[in-house]
Amino acid sequence: AVRTPLIAGNWKMNLDHLQAVAFVQKLHWTLKDAKHEDGSVEVAVFPPFTDLRTVQTLLDADKIPFSLGGQDLSPKDSGAFTGDISGAFLAKLDAQYVIIGHSERREYHHETDEVVASKVQAALRHGLVPVICVGETAEDLEKYGASAVPVGQLKTALADVPADADIVVAYEPVWAIGSGQAATPDQAQDVCAKLRAVVADTLGADAAERTRVLYGGSVKAANIASFMREPDVDGALVGGASLVVDEFAAIIRYQK
Ligand code: G3H
Repeated sequence: AVRTPLIAGNWKMNLDHLQAVAFVQKLHWTLKDAKHEDGSVEVAVFPPFTDLRTVQTLLDADKIPFSLGGQDLSPKDSGAFTGDISGAFLAKLDAQYVIIGHSERREYHHETDEVVASKVQAALRHGLVPVICVGETAEDLEKYGASAVPVGQLKTALADVPADADIVVAYEPVWAIGSGQAATPDQAQDVCAKLRAVVADTLGADAAERTRVLYGGSVKAANIASFMREPDVDGALVGGASLVVDEFAAIIRYQK
């Protein structure tokens, strides 16, 4: 495949820094025993901010080949923004990725498409790959169908992004997040293909070819292979199932 599959675990507000160490070590051992750290699938973890330093030290010390990311960042670089985290700080901890525009940020922190776009710019300023999350709510789905809202969200997020930027797009239907009711592989493929077309329109054909588009929403070991078979699904953004070592390891080993 031209694109290396990406299996990303978004821990959300779970696992403190001590639990994080135990979790990452156990996941690493599980994958190592299964000889699954061969680079054919990229594994990324997105711990809470307070865990990042500990996890980064562990990955570095034990040469664990997982990528690291933050769950959010500030649109600003520094200054009087109490409680916010600069992309510069994430980059300094060797984070390669940052999740932007997760539906939980949009809902509980009122992040608009414009805020999301400014965070994408901040990520790129600091050399971080933004994992841009888009998706429709159940109400949107009923009113406009599946693709209109995520397509619009992505267009705004990509407005000022240069053609050579490294980005990841995550399609997460809000109704599928944490509900146990995943989209069907057909539904995921349809919207992921439309999102790739947005990348092609805004950043060009090369960018569309190399950009990974993930599906997220109730991904589990039992359904991952069905999503990965779709041509425009290049990986998964996993929430709940990324917190259970054996389940997440089985998701990573979907091909075997
Ligand atoms: O970022 C991850 C998603 O919100 C999916 O969460 O796998 O628990 O449905 P979930």
